[in-house]
Amino acid sequence: MIVTVGSLKGSPGATTLALALADRWPAGGEPLVVEADPAGGDLGARFGLSPQRGLVTLAAAGRRGGGGQPRPLAEHVHRLPGGLEVLTAPAGAEQARQALGELGGGGWSLLWAAARQGGRPVLVDCGRLDPASPAAPALRAADVLLLVVRARDDELAHLATRMRVIQGWRLPAWYLVVAGQPGRDDRYRMRDLAGVLGARVLGPIPHDPAAAAVLAGQRRARGGISRSRLGRAAAELAGYLTGHLDVPDQTTPDQHVPVRPGRDEPAALPAVSTGWVPADTVYAPREKEAR
Ligand SMILES: Nc1ncnc2c1ncn2[C@@H]1O[C@H](COP(=O)(O)OP(=O)(O)O)[C@@H](O)[C@H]1O
Ligand SMILES: [Mg+2]
Repeated sequence: MIVTVGSLKGSPGATTLALALADRWPAGGEPLVVEADPAGGDLGARFGLSPQRGLVTLAAAGRRGGGGQPRPLAEHVHRLPGGLEVLTAPAGAEQARQALGELGGGGWSLLWAAARQGGRPVLVDCGRLDPASPAAPALRAADVLLLVVRARDDELAHLATRMRVIQGWRLPAWYLVVAGQPGRDDRYRMRDLAGVLGARVLGPIPHDPAAAAVLAGQRRARGGISRSRLGRAAAELAGYLTGHLDVPDQTTPDQHVPVRPGRDEPAALPAVSTGWVPADTVYAPREKEAR
């Protein structure tokens, strides 16, 4: 499965959510987090990682493609202290944009092959989304986009103006994931949002500074984030996605005819045709068939 995570404005916690989801992904293939943020990566600095591997080396490997086997993905990724595998972006925006552009030479294909044939969940942190983003190929390949927003007037105003653009991306599925804010109960705002947008609204992702600090390399915790509120919400969300998305079966690529609601339909609300998920039931226990 290819999961893209992005934001529209500010810093609502897209990177943190991508890491939390990967960390709490249900057992199966080993998740890979790809930092595809055109504004530049944060993980290298947060975890003190060497710039000698990451998007830049993957882009170079993809370009060399024809002349022999490209270096395997494993040679471009870092392993974070808790065990998560990440592909980092350079910290500088210019370098990050350039590396993302160069992934078109074959690097993206290596990632999608890992997701489709290797059965790895690939979580792509696209940073702030805009129509000209060099991370757009990830949106085109994605099974789902998680758009992280805080239920604040300024962010929601942006969302309203960008709705058509998001629909134009023709994603097979997309959700708004509401990031919780300190000292606020966002559930009422979420329900309002749901009523107005007619799109899926998931969350809220709890405001959990202690768990976020673990995912930002500022704190070590035995057991990582597994018992934190953020960790539990991420586990629910990951379980929800694996249970509800119709992802092409990579084991029999020739016979499989992917059914992708919304892909061939005109871009109209709602972009996802599988129905409305009430915001307040999202973190209810998962149904049996979703397991
Ligand atoms: N759920 C959360 N609870 C508390 N703090 C968070 C949460 N998510 C993110 N943060 C913090 O907010 C800051 C920005 O988060 P980050 O994930 O880098 O945002 P973005 O990728 O959207 O720019 C970081 O300091 C991070 O630790
Ligand atoms: Mg980020």
